Amino acid sequence: MAPRIARCRGAFLALVFAAAAWSCSSGGGGGGGSGQPPPDVGGSGGGPPSPAVPNLYALAPGGMPVGVAVPAGNFANSLLGSVARQQVVDAHFSQLTAENIMKPSFLQPAEGTFDFADADELAAYAEARGMTMHGHTLLWHEQLPAWMETFQGDAADWASMMSGHVGTVAAHFAGNATLVSWDVVNEVFSDSDADGDGLHDMRDTLWLANIGPGYVATAFRTAAAADPDADLYYNDYNLSGVPAKLAAVLDMVGAFRNDPDPVPIDGIGFQMHVSLAWPEIGQVRSAFAAAAATGLKVKISELDITVNTDGNGASLGMTELTPAVADQQRARFEAIVRAYLDEVPAPQRGGITVWGIADVDSWRRTYNSNEWPLLFDDAFAAKPALTGFADGLRAMP
Ligand code: G3I
Repeated sequence: MAPRIARCRGAFLALVFAAAAWSCSSGGGGGGGSGQPPPDVGGSGGGPPSPAVPNLYALAPGGMPVGVAVPAGNFANSLLGSVARQQVVDAHFSQLTAENIMKPSFLQPAEGTFDFADADELAAYAEARGMTMHGHTLLWHEQLPAWMETFQGDAADWASMMSGHVGTVAAHFAGNATLVSWDVVNEVFSDSDADGDGLHDMRDTLWLANIGPGYVATAFRTAAAADPDADLYYNDYNLSGVPAKLAAVLDMVGAFRNDPDPVPIDGIGFQMHVSLAWPEIGQVRSAFAAAAATGLKVKISELDITVNTDGNGASLGMTELTPAVADQQRARFEAIVRAYLDEVPAPQRGGITVWGIADVDSWRRTYNSNEWPLLFDDAFAAKPALTGFADGLRAMP
């Protein structure tokens, strides 16, 4: 099937989702506001109402991927078992990321025992609809199977075990035109710069402890050997708001390139788990521009925008999403999408992925049940945020 590019699919979907679109004027939500002054979210306010959004991905300039992280496998909210989730995903997105089931604990639950059934099922779902997949993630320090956590051996043994996982998983999907990119390593850097060199330090993970800092390059080399066609990303959070963390990533990219045997890397993933006001949009723009200046692809890999937190992540005490705050979120989505498209040249756009289908599925709810960070509400109806994302896309030729 031809890959799903910027095109609409049938008037039926347009009618379904135009009707379901949640209008700012209709209210919805309601209830106590935050009582906070509206933050400067950087987007546009007012103006004539935007048109309905029947197919978000169809608005993406140049067919840029518009993705969504989805539950799958045995999760109760699996995409494969939810018509409501499928209707949203099929209408609005051109790329899927597995929220959990392609992480090490799911793909190699026991040493030497790989289980690709759920991942293959999700890949088949995407392929059947002309969607692509972004693999998440070959290597991380979280969601590892117990046997990896307790693995015993010297550095060579650890490196062999790590490369065995990375290589086997990447090879499994090699040649599968649906799987177009991978987060090869996720969240290598810590949240601090203990030595004061202006670069965040490497996170003290079992990979660093047992293999040494070279594990990152080894993972990228292994993935590239296993699947030469996939785009290979480094993925991390707070890159748009913490300059010293982004600097550490860019320093690593430079080291990869200056290696006598350059380390293969194709892109940088900005997770973008942000809030209405943090990071400030100018800082977001600068971060995108700095990453794009490397010539690598830049991808917003896990976008969600919390509204019930202050700049320090503390709850604002909201109990419902008011129309006013929903509209601030709309403007924030628009501002971030527009910043990305402005700062990242078209050939370098890895795309924009939101980290969840609807608010009810968001990982953010783990920490605050009163949080509404995504494009669709708990009833899978479009929020003003969808309009904001669409308006950000529409702004670009
Ligand atoms: O579904 C089971 C449930 O049956 C069980 O009772 C419960 C008990 O722990 O666990 C449930 O699974 C949880 C799963 O989310 C589904 O809700 C896992 O415990 C929990 O660990 C898992 O959290 C995931 C988290 O990564 C793990 O760190 C989130 O879904 C996922 O959204 C989140 O995604 C990460 C990215 O991979 C990397 N970037 C940050 C992002 C947010 O943390």
